[in-house]
Parts: sequence; structure tokens; C-alpha cells
Amino acid sequence: MFHYMAGWATKIEGNTITLSVPYMPGAGFHAYTLREPIGVIAQIIPWNFPLLMAAWKLAPALATGNTVILKPAEQTPLTALRLAELIAEAGIPDGVVNVLPGYGESAGAALAAHDDVDKVAFTGSTEVGKLIVQAAAGNLKKVTLELGGKSPNIVLDDADPDIAIQGAANAIFFNHGQCCVAGSRLFIQEDRFDQVVEGVAGIARGIKLGPGLEPGTQMGPLVSDEQLQRVTGYLDSGRDEGAHTVVGGSRHGEQGYFVQPTVLIGAHPSTKVVREEIFGPVVVASPFSDLDQIAAEANDTTYGLGAGIWTRDISKAHALASRIRAGTVWINCYNVFDAALPFGGYKQSGWGREMGHEVLEAYTEVKAVCTQL
Ligand code: NAI
Ligand code: MG
Repeated sequence: MFHYMAGWATKIEGNTITLSVPYMPGAGFHAYTLREPIGVIAQIIPWNFPLLMAAWKLAPALATGNTVILKPAEQTPLTALRLAELIAEAGIPDGVVNVLPGYGESAGAALAAHDDVDKVAFTGSTEVGKLIVQAAAGNLKKVTLELGGKSPNIVLDDADPDIAIQGAANAIFFNHGQCCVAGSRLFIQEDRFDQVVEGVAGIARGIKLGPGLEPGTQMGPLVSDEQLQRVTGYLDSGRDEGAHTVVGGSRHGEQGYFVQPTVLIGAHPSTKVVREEIFGPVVVASPFSDLDQIAAEANDTTYGLGAGIWTRDISKAHALASRIRAGTVWINCYNVFDAALPFGGYKQSGWGREMGHEVLEAYTEVKAVCTQL
């Protein structure tokens, strides 16, 4: 991320523009644009990928000449503080990068409302994203948001079953499902439904849960008691609302915040486990028959962050990709990120894009300079 964005630092350019100005006949002009830093940027990041989120946020802000106050999540301040030490050691002038640990309701809210902050860039829950927008209204600071998701992962009947099963499991179980792009709604074309559900359930059964430092552990605990309560609450609500648990379905053990990797089927599209972000290792699988309808089903969500398509038919893949309302569509892969690939959300998954050259727009103001010759 830092290497890629460092390359952009020498490529921030404006344009020269030929003017016609019809109400000033005969006048000549020289006009150009400058891309300038926005100023002081508050960056508020979550706990699910603490160092990565810091890198995604800091690198483009610095490449475009801004200064930053980075607030890590209260659960995970240490990597950001270590990064601040390395940044100081690297010789970045004092005050350019400031790491400010603190709670969201106090430190985060104060940054979002502060009149001397020119922009806030936030990653976290959609609920807090809306609070940030309200807080930013005071001085109309710029806002970019990377929020939640309920991403559809669609397996067509011609997909390679082994690849699709592995991919579907990785899409939901990576980082214990604590991923904004988690492929939490798994749509499988009818003929493959039993095979893919059984395959993903088999992988779930085989995942070894345990402490992160224990050799052989494949999945650790959730981040906090709050997340444990949240995720097990969804497991209860899924059961209460009529979903059937194929595998998993509850807390693992008595100690720590472990949750069993879980596959649910038979959940009604209106239920909470289908509609709300769970942020745990819980996938809801449903069959579909008609390729024409699957885009509408996939889009039946307030979110629009990620999506997956598994098929060997390139025409179907690209036709479907164009119909899905999401910031990223992965075909025969999932959770593939690159500094050059823009990332962000449609609908209530966010405003603006991180990474790629798109992010430069989110960290610069455009100034038009117009001279009469
Ligand atoms: P959160 O949205 O409350 O926290 C994310 C960041 O926002 C943290 O740095 C926090 O201190 C800060 N924050 C909290 N309240 C704030 C406020 N009023 N003003 C300014 N900053 C504030 O997320 P939380 O509570 O950790 O997790 C709850 C749910 O949010 C999760 O279950 C998940 O669904 C979603 N989430 C989504 C993430 C994503 O990557 N899109 C990351 C983390 C959580
Ligand atoms: Mg919160």
C-alpha cells in the first residue's frame, strides 16, 4: 500500500483547459487546475484488520500531501502506535501523522465534529457511519465511508464444485467472518445446492478452533465479548425465525469468544440472518433456479460492498457482474485485494473508494485557476 501510493506522490496532476467564455468575445484566457491536499484528515478505523486498515487510510492521505489524525479502534490500538513509532523513525515531520487512541463515543465523535478537521474517513459499522455524517454537518467537512455488507456469493451450476466450495468457505470463514465483504449470503443454483452446502459444511466441521498462538489453530476467537454476544444473538434469532442449522450454530467451548463456523439453510429472505450484517463465521445458503432472477435476489439488500460469482461460463459471469450493485465483484475468486484496485461500497456500504487512483480524488481538492491574457 505504501509502495503503491508513494508512486502516486509524484503523479498528482492538474489539466490545462481551453476556455470559450461566450459572453467575453475576443478575450483570451489561460486556465488550469491544481490538485491540492484537503488539509487535516481524521481517520477512524475498526479492529478487524488493525494494521491493514491503518495502511489503507494513511498511505493515500500522505501521498496527496495531507496531515492525519488516526484513531484506531479501542480494541486494537497497539499496531497503530507501533506504526507511529516507525513513522517517526522514518523521518516524517512531527505533526504530520498523529495516532490518537480512544473510544468511539468520545475521541471518535469529537474528531468527526471538530471544526478544524477538513475531512473524516471512516471504516466501521453503517450505524456509526450515519452518526459521522451527522457530526460532519457542522462545518460540512468532507466524508468518505467504508461500511458494512451482506455480500452475495453466487454459485452457478456449471462452476467447478471443488473451487466453488473452497471459495465459498473462504469467503465467509476468513478472519472468522469479521470482514466487511464476508460472503454471508450464499446463493447456489438448484442442481448443485446439496453438494455445495455439504462441501462448505464439511470444511466448517474440519476447522480447528483455538487460541491464535497455538500451532494448528485455524480459527481463533472473535474480537470481544460484545461480538460474541452479537453473533450468538444472530444464531438464536436464525433458529427462532425458522432457519435450519446444517453445521455449527453456537458458541464453541465455555472460555473465550469462540463461535462455531456455521451454515444455515431455509432462512426466509425477510429474516434478520439474511438481512443484517452478522460479522461472524455464519453463512446463509439458499437455492435458486433462474439466472435471470438471481441478480435481483442478490441486490435485495441495503448493502452493496462485495459479491462473488462462480462459473466456467465467461458470458454468464460478466453479464451477472454488470447487474450486481456492489463495489467489488469477484469471479472465481474472493477476498482478493490490491493497492491498485479501487474498493468501496454502493448503497449503504459507503461513500467513495479506497485504493487505486480513485482514492486520490477522495484526498484532494481541485482548484481552477483562470487568467485573462
Ligand atoms: P463501530 O462502527 O462502532 O467501530 C468502528 C470505529 O468507529 C472504532 O474506531 C470506534 O471507536 C469508532 N466509533 C464508534 N462510535 C463512534 C462515534 N459515535 N463517532 C465516531 N467514531 C466512533 O463498530 P463496532 O462497534 O466495533 O462493531 C459493531 C459492528 O459494526 C460489527 O458487528 C460489524 O457489523 C460492523 N463493523 C464493520 C466493519 C467494517 O469493516 N465495515 C468493521 C468493524 C465493525
Ligand atoms: Mg460500536
